[in-house]
Amino acid sequence: LASIEVDVASLEPGMSLTVKWRGKPIFIRNRTPEEVTAAADVPLSDLKDPIARNANLPADAQATGVDRSGGKDKENWIVMIGTCTHLGCVPLGQAGEYNGWFCPCHGSVYDTAGRIRKGPASENLAIPTFSFVSDTKIKIG
Ligand code: FES
Repeated sequence: LASIEVDVASLEPGMSLTVKWRGKPIFIRNRTPEEVTAAADVPLSDLKDPIARNANLPADAQATGVDRSGGKDKENWIVMIGTCTHLGCVPLGQAGEYNGWFCPCHGSVYDTAGRIRKGPASENLAIPTFSFVSDTKIKIG
């Protein structure tokens, strides 16, 4: 399928789900306010990859908390392709030093915005084209 629609009405803050899109896992997470703040407070100079890697934004957009999220009014939402940018394993959620994602294959650590912070991966987890078609429905692709 070129695009899919995902109902996220049941995802309370702190809950995630994984769907398949074009054969890839897509992580969707309704972040808690603490997770949003933790991501937003990180200076870009601390990031290994300062590029947003967000297909919805210009290629040179920076990896700020908001530009890694669903946007200004939807900063709690994270939508990402769930394959490690090192060699493609599927990272585990709410794990690792930054309580974001942790890749068990070779130890890459991603933060609560899916940005690479430690380990062998060099890029942030990629964000696919997506949009909210309603408050509780996300179209991916
Ligand atoms: Fe994730 Fe190597 S594939 S750290």
